Amino acid sequence: MGNRGEKARTNLLRWTRRPRRTWPFLVFIVPVLILGYTLYDAARPVALGSLIEARERPSAGSVAGYYSSAKTAEAARTPSVETSTGLSDIEVRRKLDILARTRLPSPPPSDTCDDLMVLVDREHHLPPGYEPPNLVSVEAHGAPVYGGEMMLRRGAAEQLGRMARAASAAGEEIMVSSAYRSYAHQGVVFTRLVSIYGEEQARWTSAPPGQSQHQLGTAVDFTNSAVGYKIHKAFGHTTASAWLMEHAPEYGFALSYPNYKEAETGYRWEPWHYRYIGVENARSLEEDGITLQEFLTREGVEPRC
Ligand code: DAL
Ligand code: ZN
Repeated sequence: MGNRGEKARTNLLRWTRRPRRTWPFLVFIVPVLILGYTLYDAARPVALGSLIEARERPSAGSVAGYYSSAKTAEAARTPSVETSTGLSDIEVRRKLDILARTRLPSPPPSDTCDDLMVLVDREHHLPPGYEPPNLVSVEAHGAPVYGGEMMLRRGAAEQLGRMARAASAAGEEIMVSSAYRSYAHQGVVFTRLVSIYGEEQARWTSAPPGQSQHQLGTAVDFTNSAVGYKIHKAFGHTTASAWLMEHAPEYGFALSYPNYKEAETGYRWEPWHYRYIGVENARSLEEDGITLQEFLTREGVEPRC
């Protein structure tokens, strides 16, 4: 009996000693780690883009084949595939929450959507029947294209041709990978990305039909051999992109979706996507040092066509 009592006491001591080594970890350290991560996570929403960029910095191998997913006949006609690259659903939701909190007021309405300064975004849509006037081939105006025929409005195509020649003279390669997209064509592109990435991710990088600047006939996507002729943010790390950032305003083009402005524009960084707004407007935008989104909200018009 005495032995059994002694044994039980020893077992009890062993049992109480063992947890003493693990309890502090479970009871104090784990909550401290969880709290620490929560605070860190809450403090970093806008800087998130840079972390993702660093993770996905380009290498020829990683870029090639990035968009090798199944193609529909319509999409194959235009090689442009603007897609998401790795934001988790939580990260996307967080950025879209910021967008909802920072919404800017609308500019005055316009009966014509042909105005170069028409605001088209998540909240300001083009009707399905809107087609821009004077669509012409960009290739015929001197801009090299990758894929099938690319069209832009005449004024935009002329300036694009001049810009492409200047870029080439400076030793830079810029090729047009996508230009005008009809409402229906945008629907095909968007639906395909939704089927690959899910709606939440797709919306973050591709506009649903009626919400794309490509329907205006003034937006253009660039690519080149350095990124395997893909539409990819690696393009933003090329010298051609640096050249465009510096010189595009001289030809009337503005970068629509800059880096770190996701909460304002509603879209991830798209270093390939430029929109023609006219030389004077683009220069004025550059001088003001604001985004195209802010500029059109302040000085543009709301589509009511
Ligand atoms: N990628 C841009 C947002 C578009 O689809 O128009
Ligand atoms: Zn685009």
